Amino acid sequence: MNIILLGPPGAGKGTQAQRLQSDLGMVQLSTGDMLRAAVASGTELGKKAKGLMEKGELVPDDLIVGLIKDRIAQPDCAKGFILDGFPRTEAQARALDKMLAEMAMKLDQVVEMEVDEKALTERVVGRFTCAKCGTGYHDSFKRPKVDGVCDVCGSKEFTRRKDDNAETMKTRMVAYRAQTEPLLPYYRARGVLKKVDGMAAMDEVYRQIRAVLAGA
Ligand code: AP5
Repeated sequence: MNIILLGPPGAGKGTQAQRLQSDLGMVQLSTGDMLRAAVASGTELGKKAKGLMEKGELVPDDLIVGLIKDRIAQPDCAKGFILDGFPRTEAQARALDKMLAEMAMKLDQVVEMEVDEKALTERVVGRFTCAKCGTGYHDSFKRPKVDGVCDVCGSKEFTRRKDDNAETMKTRMVAYRAQTEPLLPYYRARGVLKKVDGMAAMDEVYRQIRAVLAGA
């Protein structure tokens, strides 16, 4: 099964994609994670993306489409994938339709995660990640079981994203409203859009997503 998790910054896309990946064996394809890896390794793509990401603006469509096209063509994606952070513009959505058709693949479901704007900022500002295995945490909503130690790999190093601050969040929300939200009617018209309550607790959001996928 191939799905998109669609929602604003901090909606919980990455959190739920990680869980679907570990329970169902689907592959999480996060364009944000791919771009951050490119920035960290100093590639040409990373150099172009760095400043835009720090300001909270979108990276140009052609760069993103090339990135995801290469990744979807990898053999592991044949067992199903979760798009997390892609598509984000109508041009990206159209490019996805085209690449899936070329690869004889199909999009099974788009899950909209709806969350209030105030809660989004709180989530993003409190987020931190294990520097070794990438497991996500939150200062209030998901602390490691032992303070300062990753539940999954035991690492004691954590990182915070540069764009996870209240100021940059304003720009990220403007980009979401103007460029990504129009994808909701795009997918609704194709009959593949279902909404879950992203304000619910993480386990409940997960339960709702699994129910949507079971009915797909
Ligand atoms: P990206 O990395 O995709 O960031 P984003 O869309 O802003 O989404 P986030 O990763 O911030 O949030 P999330 O929904 O995954 O939430 P999470 O699960 O972590 O993109 C970053 C940048 O890269 C963009 O600004 C852009 O510049 C560029 N980019 C990426 N893709 C692009 C594209 N396709 N085109 C152009 N540019 C692109 O949860 C957040 C926090 O809340 C966590 O701490 C978590 O523990 C907590 N939490 C999660 N669920 C709940 C819950 N139910 N209750 C309470 N807390 C919760």
